[in-house]
Amino acid sequence: MKDQAEKLREIFKNLDYNKIKENTYGRSSKKSARVITITSGKGGVGKTNLAINLGIKLSQLGLKIIIIDADLGLSNIDIVLGKSPKYSLSDVINYKRDMLEIIEEGPEGIRFISGGSGIQDLIKIDKNQLANLLLQLSKLDEEADIVFIDTGAGVSNNVLSFIYAAKEIILVTTPEPTAITDAYTLIKVISQKDKSKEVKLLINRAESVREAENLLNKLVEASEKFLDMKVYKLGFILNDKNVKNAVKSQQPFVLMNKNSEASKNISSIADTLLSNYYEEQGAQDGIKLFINKLKWFFN
Ligand SMILES: Nc1ncnc2c1ncn2[C@@H]1O[C@H](COP(=O)(O)OP(=O)(O)OP(=O)(O)O)[C@@H](O)[C@H]1O
Ligand SMILES: [Mg+2]
Repeated sequence: MKDQAEKLREIFKNLDYNKIKENTYGRSSKKSARVITITSGKGGVGKTNLAINLGIKLSQLGLKIIIIDADLGLSNIDIVLGKSPKYSLSDVINYKRDMLEIIEEGPEGIRFISGGSGIQDLIKIDKNQLANLLLQLSKLDEEADIVFIDTGAGVSNNVLSFIYAAKEIILVTTPEPTAITDAYTLIKVISQKDKSKEVKLLINRAESVREAENLLNKLVEASEKFLDMKVYKLGFILNDKNVKNAVKSQQPFVLMNKNSEASKNISSIADTLLSNYYEEQGAQDGIKLFINKLKWFFN
């Protein structure tokens, strides 16, 4: 494993993203996708539902959205949308398919990519496969305005490192004490690795606006005070039976009931996500930055 990490570090040193992209698209290609990882300390807190419903909302606002389902086991997005994709990232890594062939259509123009066992394959990837994967990933710059990476529960440390190559991270927690403790632990891990990450906190299943705001404040303050880490408030979603009902009928809740509390919360979250995007300088780096940060995986 150590030898492999050493080899990969070597490969990264010699890879030049700009060259890869130039070779594929020519120098004129400037567009970048914004890459955002959606994660949590504890599983089952609402990441997949957030990815899909926020994705749909943003798509309705005119943005091109791709969600990468980075779950290792059962594919979450397939379950929530009631679809089963034919191909996965694993087919790209193993040269069976091109990136553009594995993108599946979802509701309201959102598209998604299944990680399949591809995420796990990353650990044993060779030099040529890695170069091919980076080239394939760079195609997403043309395909999406925002790429969300939906992480599954119980993902191994190595894999998490890969996933955290994104500059922006949406960290989801519920108000449950165990979920909050796990979220705080994750902020700590991220702060020890890279303080420049933009961690955006989202409280899901809050019983009231007040509860959500208190929690957001507490976590932001504790992170700043004890971890010297700036955490941003992305917002909250109330505990809403419409979400459960939508999941049961394998429909996104923003489409099933546009006026539900959860749907309104999603609209505010979309606004916040877009407003701080335009304030941020580095947001244009997109996939390029993501690929460069993959180095983080091997440090
Ligand atoms: N705002 C909400 N109100 C009510 N129930 C919710 C809400 N958000 C999520 N849920 C419930 O929580 C369940 C888990 O949600 P989801 O599958 O999105 O979590 P997850 O974090 O992706 O889980 P995993 O870690 O297993 O991938 C949903 O099936 C739904 O029943
Ligand atoms: Mg999930």
